[in-house]
Amino acid sequence: MQLTGNTIFITGGGSRIGRELARRFNDLGSADRSRAQNGPAAISTFSQQVVKQHPELNVLINNAGIMRYEDLSKARDLHDAEAQITTNLLGPIRLTNALINHLTTRANPVVVNVSSGLAFVPRSDAGTYGASKAAIHSYTLSLREQLKGQVKLIEITPPAA
Ligand SMILES: NC(=O)c1ccc[n+]([C@@H]2O[C@H](COP(=O)([O-])OP(=O)(O)OC[C@H]3O[C@@H](n4cnc5c(N)ncnc54)[C@H](OP(=O)(O)O)[C@@H]3O)[C@@H](O)[C@H]2O)c1
Repeated sequence: MQLTGNTIFITGGGSRIGRELARRFNDLGSADRSRAQNGPAAISTFSQQVVKQHPELNVLINNAGIMRYEDLSKARDLHDAEAQITTNLLGPIRLTNALINHLTTRANPVVVNVSSGLAFVPRSDAGTYGASKAAIHSYTLSLREQLKGQVKLIEITPPAA
């Protein structure tokens, strides 16, 4: 990935890993920060606005994510599980879909997906989180294959911090 001359759309850019990525790219003079909601209609509308305001957009970083501890040993309210799937998996799928037609028109387009070491070595008390990250890892492999020669796919797999 070239490190300068990009216009970058990063989700979760206000906190920790996302904020640091945004700061580093800003230091290189190439980042533009934004924030996404994760409902399908909101993502579609927001993406259209972003492209209109920033037609030079060429990099999407799907960083926003949540982790919740879960006790899988008894029936529970699945709200947390569903929220993790929505944010960690459906969010990147929806946002990539909303921007893919634009990205393929740009020079040096890149999609960065942030997975986790827990995709590969799960924590038993964070089952849905690990599953969502394993899924985004797998989805990234498929995207990389299908977009070969068009859009570069990068997976960041942070260790626990
Ligand atoms: N930190 C680690 O040890 C670690 C390790 C492996 C992987 N990761 C992954 O790295 C990424 C960033 O982690 P982090 O530790 O920097 O996370 P974080 O500090 O908890 O920040 C998460 C960011 O995502 C945003 N976000 C959460 N839900 C959202 C939603 N539904 N729609 C839009 N934005 C949403 C948050 O915005 P608000 O605060 O405004 O909600 C926040 O800016 C995540 O995907 C995480 O799973 C982190």
